[in-house]
Amino acid sequence: MKANVVVGGFYGDEGKGKIVGYLALKDNPDYVVRAGGGPQAGHTVTEGKKVTQIPSGFVNSSSRLLIARGTVINPEIVLREIEEYGVEDRIGIDFGCTIIQRKHRIEEKGDLVKRIGSVGTGTGPARKDRILRKAKIAKRIELLRPYLTDVAQEINDALKSDKRILIEGVQGYGLSLLNYEFYPNVTSQDTTASQFAADVGIGPKAIGEIFVVYKAYVSRVGRGPLRYKWTKRKAQKLGIQEQGTVSRRPRRFGDFDKELAAKSLIGNTGTQSAITCLDRLFDGNASIREFSKLTTEARNFTRDIEVFLTKQSPYFKGITLISTGPNSEDIIDRRQVL
Ligand code: GTP
Ligand code: MG
Repeated sequence: MKANVVVGGFYGDEGKGKIVGYLALKDNPDYVVRAGGGPQAGHTVTEGKKVTQIPSGFVNSSSRLLIARGTVINPEIVLREIEEYGVEDRIGIDFGCTIIQRKHRIEEKGDLVKRIGSVGTGTGPARKDRILRKAKIAKRIELLRPYLTDVAQEINDALKSDKRILIEGVQGYGLSLLNYEFYPNVTSQDTTASQFAADVGIGPKAIGEIFVVYKAYVSRVGRGPLRYKWTKRKAQKLGIQEQGTVSRRPRRFGDFDKELAAKSLIGNTGTQSAITCLDRLFDGNASIREFSKLTTEARNFTRDIEVFLTKQSPYFKGITLISTGPNSEDIIDRRQVL
């Protein structure tokens, strides 16, 4: 079976952790692989369960968890999360992961944090050293030895033996290093499905479904442009207040950005999409699990976006997942219907 990938459609924090957690429980993948990013990308899987380095799919205790070679890691944080969620027996870390050292965090604080509002975890400077062939990689870190593996080989073998594989990308389309509109307020790598496949070490033909995750509104932490921006009053009226999972800085909000949604759908060749936090935007939709039970307003909103997205890409089949609350069961899964 081909590997499915989950990517962010806006600026990260679309709720990928929640969607991956749901897919991990529902589809029971043999492997869940975290691809790309570093400890700067935080995911909330369900209320109170947050990860920055280990896969969000840890909530399914029968899945093997892997951290791909394209992910930058801080050994201290990885080891802490492995212990916190008790996944010692089923996690593997690729020999080739780039390692963050103290000097990278210091370098980031003195530069990127001030200049573009980076989070300060050292991810960007570690990647820079990787490009200069100066970075340490995981195979040299004694403390990681019990977990080290060749993720590319594991996943390519798994593809051969028809195992189920779920790859979780990080951040979002609007944060890609290659995005000229938003540069330099971007992250240190590309953030599309192709990149995440490369991070894992598989080729494009091994990818099956590509889920592009959007929030029902746009949220953005840190600096950089944001279209259709809400006033403080609008956010207050809706009772929406959010902070960065890692940075704890307040997020800014805007209306659902169709233009960005279309670009990310096309750039990822998204085959399905998920919309999260619909309950936050429209009252009366919390924990709804059937499309027909959503309020008319929420249904029309979703349909309108679906019609629009369908016109953008021949690969797109529809909005198949609609999240209506923080927990895994708060979801409408329309994959059977479509
Ligand atoms: P990713 O980085 O994309 O994984 O998201 P995140 O966890 O960094 O950020 P997000 O803002 O999406 O999540 C913040 C909070 O929203 C967390 O507490 C989630 O549990 C919660 N959340 C996720 N999806 C939904 C939803 O559909 N409705 C509601 N009310 N909360 C949600
Ligand atoms: Mg996040």
